[in-house]
This record gives sequence, C-alpha cells and structure tokens, in this order.
Amino acid sequence: MKKVLKWIGIVLAGLVGLLVVAAVVLNIMGGSRLNKTHDIQAESIVIPDDAAALARGEHLVDVGCKSCHGANLGGQPLLADPAIGLVYAANISGLGTSHSDEELILAIRHGLDQDGRQLVIMPAEAFINLSAEDLGAAIAYLKTVPRVENELPGPELSFMGKILLGSGMMGPVFPAEYIDHNQPFPDMPEVGANLEYGAYVSGLCTGCHGPDLAGGPSGEPNAPSVPGLRSESALASWSEEEFLLFMHTGVTPDGRQIDPEAMPWESFGKFEDDELQGLWLHLQSLPPAG
Ligand code: HEC
Ligand code: HEC
Repeated sequence: MKKVLKWIGIVLAGLVGLLVVAAVVLNIMGGSRLNKTHDIQAESIVIPDDAAALARGEHLVDVGCKSCHGANLGGQPLLADPAIGLVYAANISGLGTSHSDEELILAIRHGLDQDGRQLVIMPAEAFINLSAEDLGAAIAYLKTVPRVENELPGPELSFMGKILLGSGMMGPVFPAEYIDHNQPFPDMPEVGANLEYGAYVSGLCTGCHGPDLAGGPSGEPNAPSVPGLRSESALASWSEEEFLLFMHTGVTPDGRQIDPEAMPWESFGKFEDDELQGLWLHLQSLPPAG
C-alpha cells in the first residue's frame, strides 16, 4: 500500500513538474512574440500637401483610427485586465516630429513600430489594402495633428497573458506575422457610389469577413463565427437603405443591435453615404461563394 502511495506521489509530482515546465515555455514563447521584430523596407510613396489630400486624409483617419486611438489621437487603453495585461492604442498625435514618413508607412501598412517590433492589434491587415494615394493622404494629415501630452507604455502582458499568447489562444493578434508584406498597392478608384470604389473599400472588411467576404470562423477563440456578405448571405434580403442604416447604427433589419466591439460599425458609419452606396453595389455584385 505504502509503495502504491509513493508511486502515485511520484507520478503526481511529475505531472505538476511538467505543467510548470509547459507554463514556463509557453510564457517565454508569448514574451518572444511580444518582442518579435521584422526587417521590412518601407515603400517610397508621395506624401501630398494640398488641401484636398489633407481633407481626404482626415476623413480616412476619422473612419479608420479614432475608434482605437481616441478622438484626439492621444491613445487609450484597449485591454486593461490585471489578470492578462495592459495594451494601449498608442498616442499617435504629434507624429510629424517623432516619426519619419517611412516609419509611418511601416506602422500603418506593415504593423511595425520604429524598431521593427510587431504591433499588437493594430489592424495593418486592413490598411495594407489602402492605395498609395490614400496612405499618403492619411500620413500627410497625421503629421498636422498637434502633440497631445499623454505618455503611454508599450504592451505588457502578465505571466498568464503570455501563456495565452504563447499557446495561440489569443488568436491572430499580430498582423505583421500573417500579412503579405509584398502585396502591391491597389489602384485608387474615383471616390463615390461606384463598383470600383466599393470593391476598394471592401478591403477594410476582409480581415474579419474573409478574403472573399464569404465569412467563416472568427479568429478569436470562443467568438461567434463571422457572417458572409456575398449575395447568398442574409444581406440578400436587405435593401440599400437597410444596409446604410446598419452601417450607421449597428441595427440589422430584423432589429438586432450589434456590439461595436464585435463589428466596428461606429467607425465605418463615418463613411459618407455615397461611399457606403459604392460598398453596397460591390457586395450586391458578388455571386454566391463557390
Ligand atoms: C483596432 C484598434 C486600432 C485601430 C483601428 C488602429 N490602431 Fe494604430 N495601434 C493600435 C495599437 C493597440 C497600437 C499599439 C500596439 C503596440 O504597441 O504593440 C497601435 C500603434 C500604432 C502606431 C505605432 C506608434 C508607434 O509609437 O510606433 C501607429 C503609427 C498607428 N497605430 C497608427 C494608426 C493609424 C494611422 C490608424 C488608422 C489608419 C490606426 N493606427 C488604427 C490599435 C489600432
Ligand atoms: C473587426 C472585425 C470586423 C470588421 C473589420 C468588419 N466586420 Fe462586419 N461583422 C463582424 C462581426 C463579428 C459580425 C457579426 C456580429 C454579430 O452578429 O454579433 C459582423 C456583421 C456584419 C454585418 C451584419 C451581417 C448579418 O448577416 O447580420 C454586416 C452587414 C457587416 N458586418 C458589414 C461589414 C462591412 C461592410 C465591413 C467593412 C467596411 C465590415 N463589416 C467590417 C466583424 C467585422
């Protein structure tokens, strides 16, 4: 009997030891993903300075950046959970004095900071679909935004947070790890209610709704799957008015209020109606996914 107990004790101690080793290894893996750097060369693009381009840039920053970086671009916490960690959307005001154009291209299009460190959550997988003209306009505008004094630390994860990250349980949170950094810039279509512009803007939706907008499982664990937006989807029975209303309010035609944390309609609702009409034309034109 005593011998059996002794063996059970040894086995249990062994298992606990293995768990500790696994936790430590995953923690190290998570920590190294948090600090991983990439050596990417920024493309050289024209940074315009005319009033029309600055207005376009302001519009893009309104739609695309303020929901995370805050109304004055001074940054704010996105994840503040003592058990997991702390992630701020960085202070991106006053970049004209702190960042070169190349560094801004690396951040927005490639998801990397000034040292080549891969940025967490920053959705470069969407912004890599911006044309060189639009990226240039956004950068031109950003450089005019005055500095807001708000010192923020980089991302910090707890031991537990790093284990979740190391094991992949946080989902695809580093766009720089999975985007195609060599993807060419798309052409700039005429802005407005036309098919080409709709197709262009839909590049901001593919990161979540899938490369063909056919929907699929969510990248985040335990999150519901993401619906498709092609003509066989629920959208087939929507009208253009209902689509525009949804993009502005997050309310579907059957009266369901969608959480802006899941689907960032509060941001996309800042698109002008003619831009959303172009998007609608494009979605309507997509045949059922094969
Ligand atoms: C879904 C949230 C989200 C959106 C939308 C977003 N960002 Fe970010 N961004 C972040 C986070 C989080 C960080 C900090 C990540 C880190 O440090 O690892 C960041 C970092 C940055 C940085 C790097 C700052 C530095 O110190 O190097 C720049 C520049 C930036 N974002 C610009 C933009 C611009 C421009 C847009 C809009 C076109 C935008 N972001 C939209 C979340 C977001
Ligand atoms: C950050 C991820 C994300 C992005 C980016 C995103 N969506 Fe969504 N979207 C979702 C999720 C998740 C849902 C489902 C939410 C729910 O049902 O609670 C959704 C739902 C929708 C719905 C409702 C569909 C239905 O059948 O009820 C429409 C329409 C939609 N999205 C359009 C768009 C368009 C257009 C874009 C690009 C301009 C876009 N989304 C970008 C995540 C995203």
